[in-house]
Amino acid sequence: MYGKLIITAFIVLSVAWHVHGAVNCTAAGRFADPADSTCKNYTLCVLVTANTSFIGYNYVCPTTSLFNPTTAKCTTTYSCNGTTTNSTTSNSTSSSVCSADGFVADPSSTNCSSYIQCVLINGTYLETTLTCPTGSFYNPNTTLCEVNYVCAFTCTAAGRFANTADTTCQTYYLCVLTSTSTFTRYEYTCPTTSVFSPTTSVCTTTYTCPTASG
Ligand SMILES: *[C@@H]1O[C@H](CO)[C@@H](O)[C@H](O)[C@H]1NC(C)=O
Ligand SMILES: *[C@@H]1O[C@H](CO)[C@@H](O)[C@H](O)[C@H]1NC(C)=O
Ligand SMILES: *[C@@H]1O[C@H](CO)[C@@H](O)[C@H](O)[C@H]1NC(C)=O
Ligand SMILES: *[C@@H]1O[C@H](CO)[C@@H](O)[C@H](O)[C@H]1NC(C)=O
Ligand SMILES: *[C@@H]1O[C@H](CO)[C@@H](O)[C@H](O)[C@H]1NC(C)=O
Ligand SMILES: *[C@@H]1O[C@H](CO)[C@@H](O)[C@H](O)[C@H]1NC(C)=O
Ligand SMILES: *[C@@H]1O[C@H](CO)[C@@H](O)[C@H](O)[C@H]1NC(C)=O
Ligand SMILES: *[C@@H]1O[C@H](CO)[C@@H](O)[C@H](O)[C@H]1NC(C)=O
Repeated sequence: MYGKLIITAFIVLSVAWHVHGAVNCTAAGRFADPADSTCKNYTLCVLVTANTSFIGYNYVCPTTSLFNPTTAKCTTTYSCNGTTTNSTTSNSTSSSVCSADGFVADPSSTNCSSYIQCVLINGTYLETTLTCPTGSFYNPNTTLCEVNYVCAFTCTAAGRFANTADTTCQTYYLCVLTSTSTFTRYEYTCPTTSVFSPTTSVCTTTYTCPTASG
């Protein structure tokens, strides 16, 4: 189409560790592990709104990429230890979701529970799907996983879908296919004490909303 060779390495990994963060988090964001002289490890700090503290989750940059503490991204253009390494100059490429080093929303995730890490390696983007820590959601504005982020639901198929951002399970979305092959989204609230069951896609009193309130 554009005469470009598009190769996309798509790797699904779940590389978050719940052990003590390598970084003592004092703010939300991604921070280099100061003990890692190889510059590959970083910590995602997530704000726990309930007690205004932070929890750190450790990650490792994929393959040959290193964590640049200035941009807070994995990249092959960063020089660790101040020494210049063999940074291959790459032509610009395009892929389905990545257009730069960094993080983008996972288009296949309707509940914002996962996102994609983009790293330009040898002229093509390595796309790594990462999962947000339990209870947090990917905010494309900040590119971070946030506990209080309300995921904007987008219709990708016709039908009724749970509003996963609603911890009471009382609201759901109805996606209707229009004559122009797009979807129109409606939001509904289940009547009285019923809640929306994601398995049967109806409002029911027999479904137990999983969200523990405390
Ligand atoms: C984090 O804090 C603990 C306790 O204060 C300390 O022992 C540890 O060395 C700190 N770690 C880093 C990476 O600063
Ligand atoms: C980097 O993280 C990996 C995976 O948690 C760990 O095995 C390794 O020891 C870490 N490296 C350093 C230098 O802390
Ligand atoms: C940085 O220095 C450490 C120790 O001197 C070494 O083990 C490591 O390989 C270096 N990292 C890079 C990317 O050169
Ligand atoms: C805040 O809450 C989280 C999750 O319940 C918990 O893991 C963490 O230890 C708490 N932090 C403090 C300082 O109480
Ligand atoms: C990068 O661009 C140069 C000059 O246009 C071209 O010769 C080379 O084949 C390209 N490399 C890749 C990996 O596309
Ligand atoms: C989000 O969706 C994925 C798959 O569609 C599912 O595995 C995951 O449990 C969901 N997460 C939440 C918090 O609803
Ligand atoms: C990048 O290309 C070089 C030379 O072709 C190769 O040696 C290296 O393994 C490649 N790196 C990755 C991560 O694919
Ligand atoms: C993201 O940022 C844009 C521009 O600042 C703003 O208009 C939009 O409401 C934000 N979206 C969310 C979900 O925060």
